[in-house]
Amino acid sequence: MKIWIEDLKRHVDQHVEIMGWVFNTRSSGKIKFLELRDGTGILNCVFWEPTCGKELFEKFEQLTQESSVKVGGKVTRHPKRDELELQVTHFEILQSAHQYPISPKEHGVEFLMEHRHLWLRSRRQTAILRIRHELIKAISDFFDGRGFIRTDAPIFTPNACEGTTNLFETQYFDEKMYLSQSGQLYMEATAAALGKVYCFGPTFRAEKSKTRRHLIEFWMVEPEVAFHDMYDNMELAEQLVEYIVQRILTNRKEELRVLERDVTKLETVKAPFPRLHYREACDIIKRENPQFKVGDDFGAPDETIISSQFDRPVFVHHYPAAVKAFYMKEDPKDPGFVMGSDLLAPEGYGEIIGGGQREDNLEILERKIREHELNPEHFKWYTDLRRYGSFPHSGFGLGIERTLAWICGLPHVRETIPFPRLYGRSYP
Ligand code: 4AD
Ligand code: MG
Repeated sequence: MKIWIEDLKRHVDQHVEIMGWVFNTRSSGKIKFLELRDGTGILNCVFWEPTCGKELFEKFEQLTQESSVKVGGKVTRHPKRDELELQVTHFEILQSAHQYPISPKEHGVEFLMEHRHLWLRSRRQTAILRIRHELIKAISDFFDGRGFIRTDAPIFTPNACEGTTNLFETQYFDEKMYLSQSGQLYMEATAAALGKVYCFGPTFRAEKSKTRRHLIEFWMVEPEVAFHDMYDNMELAEQLVEYIVQRILTNRKEELRVLERDVTKLETVKAPFPRLHYREACDIIKRENPQFKVGDDFGAPDETIISSQFDRPVFVHHYPAAVKAFYMKEDPKDPGFVMGSDLLAPEGYGEIIGGGQREDNLEILERKIREHELNPEHFKWYTDLRRYGSFPHSGFGLGIERTLAWICGLPHVRETIPFPRLYGRSYP
């Protein structure tokens, strides 16, 4: 069986063979070092002429960055540090790489994005991908542990969910269809079948904006719960966010260290999170941005003004109906405002969750569909959910990449997904 670097603890003082790539080489006269990476870790391989022989000691010079190699030797403990090393006795070059484009010198972002397929091999990018994996697994564990059933939504959909301005239209044989902006409407149907459900998958928004928060293709987890009101919904969201952050703090310490993340900023992420009515949030914004008009949606700088007041994520609820989607339930006790909430991440990372209570009254929903100039034909199935056992229900969507950018402390979402789709970038 192949031996991975992460498993070497079980092979101390044994002879092993490791396959991987040349991460770095160094030499100091009588001793030469190969840093070998195999995806699970980085191993220091020691070339010392008395143990490896003159021929191997000279062949070391043929090792170039990112060449694939097979290296054999004895696993030993580092004399001073808590590390394992390999005392090399043989090695073989599987493929010799010439002029690997990403050298240890600084490269511009454009260059790195162009070489994203190679850039992913770096220490920093692999740390982010490991945290992404932990995040996704933590989300599944959170919902599965609470009896939710995962019911994924289709990608091709006949109806818009989040407005028509950023839809990707595509041909579906003789019909026009869209790439999904959100699985929510389908989760409302499966919630009526199973009570507590979620979906997890890619979603698409044709947004012609180059910001550090927007991707064209991003992944979203969307729970939906029958008989939850907007307050139950916020409670579920804050429990989820506390759980994922604390789990990454526990299980991905080393990766957070590679990213130089200030973890004290994450340690305070404990429920309950503060909750602001839209009007209270406006008061805070107006203190620093007098131009802001009450009734408008928040821009990124406005969200930053709000989040900078708190050491944990903050909910803003009861946004004006005019700035939110057609399905949001208007509060009968607070007309003109919806029973929805956004969760704003600390440190200016902006909205990571959007959701709330859904309109469950058939007549009002049909009116909203018309007012939003959506085609009622496409929503016939959706309004059926209000014809046959309508029920109060709520849910939300958490964007994986924005959440990850915040947890990892990254300046831009482009590093949070292996192959980002951005406005103006579709390669590699
Ligand atoms: O607020 P949004 O648009 O909400 C919905 O789609 C609801 N239908 C979800 C639901 O209730 N089931 O998007 C939800 C989250 C945002 O808070 C953000 O984290 C992320 O999805 N998001 C994006 N992430 C990256 N790039 C974009 N262009 C994003 N648009 C939304
Ligand atoms: Mg939103």
